[in-house]
Amino acid sequence: MPEAALPAPPLGLLEALRSARRPLVLTGAGMSAESGIATFRGGEDSLWSRFDPTQLATADAFDADPALVWAWYRWRMAKLRMSQPHAGHAALAALARLRPGLVLATQNVDDLHERAGGRGVLHLHGEIAATRCRRCDRPQAIEIDPAWAERPQLRAAPPACAVCGGPLRPGVVWFGESPPARALRAAIGAAQVADLVLVVGTSGLVYPAAGLPAAAPASVPRYEINPEPSALSAAMDGLWRAQAGVALPRLVELLAQ
Ligand code: APR
Repeated sequence: MPEAALPAPPLGLLEALRSARRPLVLTGAGMSAESGIATFRGGEDSLWSRFDPTQLATADAFDADPALVWAWYRWRMAKLRMSQPHAGHAALAALARLRPGLVLATQNVDDLHERAGGRGVLHLHGEIAATRCRRCDRPQAIEIDPAWAERPQLRAAPPACAVCGGPLRPGVVWFGESPPARALRAAIGAAQVADLVLVVGTSGLVYPAAGLPAAAPASVPRYEINPEPSALSAAMDGLWRAQAGVALPRLVELLAQ
């Protein structure tokens, strides 16, 4: 979206950000879209596009066919590793430096926020590269090979745990699994004391993450940055129909003026 096409921020957002000391920012897959990472519900042509992600992203799917599910995740790990954070990620990191009380909670399993300088990011759906044993649950790092994305295979046996021999699994929260308790507790705690809620790039369909904006006090202003309507739009005080990579840098630029 060229600058010229960027609509002005919704009324009140800049003022709210100027006075906010404890903003809560919730991001979703739309935050990674301009880094070339397909959103979940936006669809992308890939080896696995005939599969429904909700059918692959489960413990049952992994146990039933570890090679299919592991091949999908290692493809995603390699694609994420080869992607770069965009200006929106950098803008959020800059915003956190301007507002040290800012808390960033993300549904994304990539490390793009961190690679742009984000600190203390709360990963509500885990981190894909935080691999661990499916059997004994011991964390075990792996070397990510770019070939997994350059020459993807539909099936690949997961590495074996060095301790118990069980299959390694990605560090994501699968459908049916609970989000990391510490991250979720911290995110809810931040929402309860937030003085601004900014929702960026999420369809707002998956709980408990989608419930965070509602956990803030009713009087707290809520804004959404998303080119499309989401399930959270109706609860927002303002909507910025724009892409994260363009709107967030503009917001930080205006804040500095
Ligand atoms: N900037 C901002 N928002 C964008 C952009 C962009 N450049 N591109 C797309 N979006 C928006 C879409 O309009 C959509 O509302 O990002 C949202 C992406 O929605 P989903 O694909 O549903 O992703 P998300 O909301 O993060 O999904 C939540 O569901 O599949 C599970 O665990 C998975 O964490 C994921 C969760």
